[in-house]
Amino acid sequence: MEKILVIGCSGQIGSELVMTLRSIYGNENVYATDIKYPTDEVRDSGPGQILDVLDFQNLLHYIVRNNITQVYNLAAVLSGNAEKIPLQAWDINMKALINTILAAQQSDAKKLFWPSSIAVFGPTTPRHNTPQLTIMEPNTVYGISKLAGERWGEYYHQKYGIDFRSVRYPGLISYKTEAGGGTTDYAVEIFYEAIRHGRYECFLSADTALPMMFMDDAINNTIRLMQTPGENLTLRSSYNVAGISFTPKQLAESIKKYMPEFKISYKPDFRQAIANSWPASIDDSVARRDWGLTQEYDLDKMTKLMLEKVEEKLK
Ligand code: SER
Repeated sequence: MEKILVIGCSGQIGSELVMTLRSIYGNENVYATDIKYPTDEVRDSGPGQILDVLDFQNLLHYIVRNNITQVYNLAAVLSGNAEKIPLQAWDINMKALINTILAAQQSDAKKLFWPSSIAVFGPTTPRHNTPQLTIMEPNTVYGISKLAGERWGEYYHQKYGIDFRSVRYPGLISYKTEAGGGTTDYAVEIFYEAIRHGRYECFLSADTALPMMFMDDAINNTIRLMQTPGENLTLRSSYNVAGISFTPKQLAESIKKYMPEFKISYKPDFRQAIANSWPASIDDSVARRDWGLTQEYDLDKMTKLMLEKVEEKLK
C-alpha cells in the first residue's frame, strides 16, 4: 500500500495534485503539508498539517510516523521572486530538496518526485526544439538551483539508490490556485484580467515564445512518470516536457476567439530578461519514449476551459 506525501500542497501544482492522487490512491493515503494554509478541499478530504520542509527533524518524524513510501516535493521559490532574494532562494530551494533526499535515506519514502523546470536552460542553449542533452548555463537563481537539484537527484539515485524522478515543467496554467512569482505567470494572470476587466497589460513582450502546459496534463504526466517501472527510465536527472509553445500575442488571439472585445498591451519588466534566456520550444521525445508522455490540451482548448473556469471562480 502506497502512502504518499505532497510537500507544498497549497501551491499551484500541489493543490491539484493532492486531489488527483487522493482519487487514485484513496483520501486517507495522501498526506498534504505546506507552510501555507491549504484550500478547503485539500484540508477537508484527507490527512495533512502545516509543516516546514526546511525543518528536517519534523519532516523526518512526519514521514516515519505516517509510514510514507513516496514524496512529491513541490516547495520552491519561483523564478521572478528568486531574483529578488537570490541567496535566500538558493538556500530554500536546495535545502527543501536535500531534506527530502536525506529523509528518503532514513525512511521507507524512497520514491521521490521533484520538479525541475525549463529554467535549467540558459542563453547559450539552442532556443528552438531544445534537446534533452544540451548546453545548460542558466543565468537565473531559480534556474541554477533547479539544475543543481537535478544533479543531486541523479547523484543520490546512482550512489544510494534513491528512486528520484523529475520533469522539467514548462510554464503551468491553471485556475484553482494562482501561480506565485514566476515568469510564465502572465499566461495565468491574463485570464483573470480578461474576465475582470476585458484587458491585460503583459509583463513580457508580444513575441516572447515560451513552452507552457495546462495543469491537468502536467498532473497526469507527473503521476504517469511516478507509476512507470524504474527500469524503463533511462534518465534520473530530469525529463524535458514540451507542452505547447506560444507567445503572449498568440494567447491573446486565442482569447479573442471567445472574447472578441479582449485587448492586450505590453509593458515588459525584469522578467523579460528571464524569459529571453529560456527556450521557445522543447524536444521531449525521450520522455515520450521512456514513459509515454502525452498531452490532451492545445492552445484553444486550454483557453476555452480557462475562461469558463476563471469566470465561474470570480462570480
Ligand atoms: N513557471 C516557472 C517560473 O516561471 C518556471 O518553472 O518561474
